[in-house]
Amino acid sequence: MSSSPATKPDNSDPAKHNAATLSIDGKEYLLPVRHGTVGPEVVDVSSLYNDTGLFTYDPGFASTASCDSELTFIDGENGILLHRGYPIDQLADRGTFLETCHLLLYGELPTVDQYADFQNRVTMHTMVHEQMNRMYAGFRRDAHPMAIMVGVVGALSAFYHDSTDITDPVQRDIAAIRMIAKMPTIAAMAFKYSIGQPFIYPRNDLDYSANFLQMCFAVPCEVYKADPTLARAMDRIFILHADHEQNASTSTVRLAGSSGANPFACISAGIACLWGPAHGGANEAALNMLSEIGTVDRIPEFVERAKDKDDPFRLMGFGHRVYKNYDPRAKIMQKSCHEVLDALGLKNDPTLQVALELERIALEDDYFVDKKLYPNIDFYSGITLRALGFPTTMFTVLFALARTVGWIAQWREMIEDPDQRIGRPRQLYTGPAEREYVPIDQRG
Ligand code: CMC
Repeated sequence: MSSSPATKPDNSDPAKHNAATLSIDGKEYLLPVRHGTVGPEVVDVSSLYNDTGLFTYDPGFASTASCDSELTFIDGENGILLHRGYPIDQLADRGTFLETCHLLLYGELPTVDQYADFQNRVTMHTMVHEQMNRMYAGFRRDAHPMAIMVGVVGALSAFYHDSTDITDPVQRDIAAIRMIAKMPTIAAMAFKYSIGQPFIYPRNDLDYSANFLQMCFAVPCEVYKADPTLARAMDRIFILHADHEQNASTSTVRLAGSSGANPFACISAGIACLWGPAHGGANEAALNMLSEIGTVDRIPEFVERAKDKDDPFRLMGFGHRVYKNYDPRAKIMQKSCHEVLDALGLKNDPTLQVALELERIALEDDYFVDKKLYPNIDFYSGITLRALGFPTTMFTVLFALARTVGWIAQWREMIEDPDQRIGRPRQLYTGPAEREYVPIDQRG
């Protein structure tokens, strides 16, 4: 069997392919090639099984485009990330998280009036149903806040029936706004519950990120005012995590949604997927690793372990399935990290010193250079979040909070796609072929 084009597409080549020929036992099949705005073309294999009786095989989906999407573009070789065409560094440097939310949900950056309206709609939905407070009491105090998030976000569908009809565009929009608005409240409540403090209600006179910080760090007996530098840093962290194309949790949300499940249940499935240490859980794991290394002189020992095939240890916060260059988010995150530590007088934070030196050593090491392993967003986010006052268990919760807009925008895009069908991958079966049932007393 042979196929052409069989190699990696040359994106610098302006000549586009129209079709690929697949040859099986001398018979040729023409597979259409589809073109996006930028990025690799795709060979459309959707009729392959009907035409040939063969499946494609791509565990980990490294060569598979699962959908059309207009939301986010990543060029991993060149370290580029665009949301609806806008580079992530411009959004993070000049915009706000809610602007990015508007952009992802509705396709354009808002005008002044649209922004005021959007901000107002989000703000009007920040409270959660009072009965939800009682759900938290059902969890152990030492429950991981991600476990609480999975449960409480899934339970939203039990509280907001009027936004679960996925065939109604108005309900879909309300569900999206509700989730963006309520996620900070739910996340802050998970945090407060874990430290035994009373829940703090949202304050609608504050912006999105300042409100989140006050729900996390205010207490009823004191006046709290979020430091604007820290609130801005929080907002930037949210922007950096807002969406990231068809990653594992987003694909989970799309797959769950493809069956017609309600949006709150789908987002809960995304949160469960994000929790894993290879995905969103890496920020927690990265900070734990930096703390374990502890001092700069111990770095070589850990670098050697990361390179050892017989040792499962990996440098957390390093490497990425798509980025084979510096993760563009990591650059901004590193800058933000310095700003936060400066603002808090923590410039000489030992973990930051370990991170900077580890990055320097790894980027000069042949193993990491050859495998194109660069720091990803999680490498510096943990240090920043800890400086902001969050315990490590909250790191992935903050990722989930920010990624909610990406999940819901991707979910909506899928539901609104006229060609949408339930996602149903196939397999290469390697178990036993058909065999006869043997009664238990006759089994050897
Ligand atoms: N430290 C040491 N070696 C590594 C690392 C690492 N962090 N990452 C990859 N490698 C090696 C790996 O051993 C393999 O070597 P070989 O080819 O000799 O077998 C090679 O690089 C390719 O790795 P892979 O696991 O096949 O690559 P992948 O695309 O399946 O995995 C990854 C990507 C992000 C899961 C992986 O790089 C990793 O485990 N990194 C650490 C966890 C992490 O930081 N995750 C956050 C990702 S960014 C945020 C997010 O998307 O959630």
